[in-house]
Amino acid sequence: MTWDLAVVGAGYVGVPLAYTFAEAGQRVLLVDVQPHVVEAINNGVSHIEDVPSEQLKPHTDGGRITATTDYEQVKQAAAVLIALPTPLSKQREPDLSYIEAAGRSLAPVLQRGQLVVLESTTWPGTTREVLQPILEEGSGLKAGADFHLAMSPERVDPGRTDWTTKTTPKVVGGIDAASTEAAAELYRKAIDRVVTVSTPEAAELTKLLENIFRAVNIALVNELAQLTERMDINVWEVVDAAATKPFGFMSFAPGPGLGGHCIPIDPFYLTWKAREYDFSTRFIELAGEINNNMPYFCRSVVSQALNHGSQKSLKGAKILVLGVSYKADIGDMRESPAEKLVHLLKKGGADISYHDPHVPEFDGMRSVDLVPEDYDCVTIVTAHKSIDYGELVRRAQIVVDFRNATKGHEVEGKVWKL
Ligand SMILES: NC(=O)c1ccc[n+]([C@@H]2O[C@H](COP(=O)([O-])OP(=O)(O)OC[C@H]3O[C@@H](n4cnc5c(N)ncnc54)[C@H](O)[C@@H]3O)[C@@H](O)[C@H]2O)c1
Repeated sequence: MTWDLAVVGAGYVGVPLAYTFAEAGQRVLLVDVQPHVVEAINNGVSHIEDVPSEQLKPHTDGGRITATTDYEQVKQAAAVLIALPTPLSKQREPDLSYIEAAGRSLAPVLQRGQLVVLESTTWPGTTREVLQPILEEGSGLKAGADFHLAMSPERVDPGRTDWTTKTTPKVVGGIDAASTEAAAELYRKAIDRVVTVSTPEAAELTKLLENIFRAVNIALVNELAQLTERMDINVWEVVDAAATKPFGFMSFAPGPGLGGHCIPIDPFYLTWKAREYDFSTRFIELAGEINNNMPYFCRSVVSQALNHGSQKSLKGAKILVLGVSYKADIGDMRESPAEKLVHLLKKGGADISYHDPHVPEFDGMRSVDLVPEDYDCVTIVTAHKSIDYGELVRRAQIVVDFRNATKGHEVEGKVWKL
């Protein structure tokens, strides 16, 4: 075999995965449908921040990572890991079209003895009910008897440096014991700890539980933030104080809404599947309701701050939105709650500008220079580290802070928080 493994999908998950295996001395074929992505990778140029070009290039130069658009080459790989997007459709239902398309491309090149592992986040049953029949029909081979099939959800958190693809334990569940063992053996070559579970469904649900856990706990503090606003209690102080308990509590931060392509989306994969079992996932629905309402609540906080802080109405107010990406210190706009909030503020008649060092253009606007004194109000939606929040408070007329970025710089009547 020319390659120890192929990784299908050269994105946020696939590139770090390929890099991790290459670092462990494995030869990796990266398969993607975008020719410009393939060409760049083969030139040692990375489009994924977690694997900068300086780290990728030695592996492409050394022949440990090769990218291609040609599925034929997968014949020469001992294993295939599928790391493709699993979004929601317009009707907010699971969209498995990427997995299905890749399955149809893989089936004709599938070889006896190969291992196929699905890494994408998805509902329990996808590997066996969706991927397996596509692979079997197109190849004439039988999963288990002719090729191994397993599921191992990717848990990487882009931008994170304390836990990486290599150091985050890998959960693996195959369609039979031999598939589980084949997948576990492969991951052990590159990843520090492999945890096996008895089925692919258990592996699929493990990943969903992790993301649902976050969505529900964020909703809990978001609900609390709405109550504490009425009770005149500082929710951030309460969360910080609760977090001093050394056991039995885990800290989650309130905020203007969920962002990114995981936490707002993945829980609804389970909601959809649960319907098949006459079951309604009420925690997930409730969390979605509370989290989706946060931009509306935040608009009311801005409105009140303008009212009480400077006797102005939202209509006609000049507002600077500070930080629009979905999380701090990166430029990723996917599902960013800033979009909804800006839309609501504009609808309320406010005159909106924004500043974000990571996002040059957004919603038909260009990021402006940070001149806080030019605005009736500055609203902190995403707290990038590069901003001096003490100076911001000194210069601004009113600051509405949804991230507790102004902690330690609070000024009564000037700084308003969630
Ligand atoms: N990004 C994350 O933070 C993260 C973390 C954990 C899990 N996941 C999950 O991992 C999966 C992959 O997500 P991602 O963020 O890496 O996606 P992505 O959008 O970054 O990358 C997907 C890549 O797949 C390519 N592609 C699309 N169709 C293809 C096909 N038929 N054949 C080959 N390549 C194809 C695209 O061109 C793109 O380069 C999703 O299920 C996601 O939920 C993502």
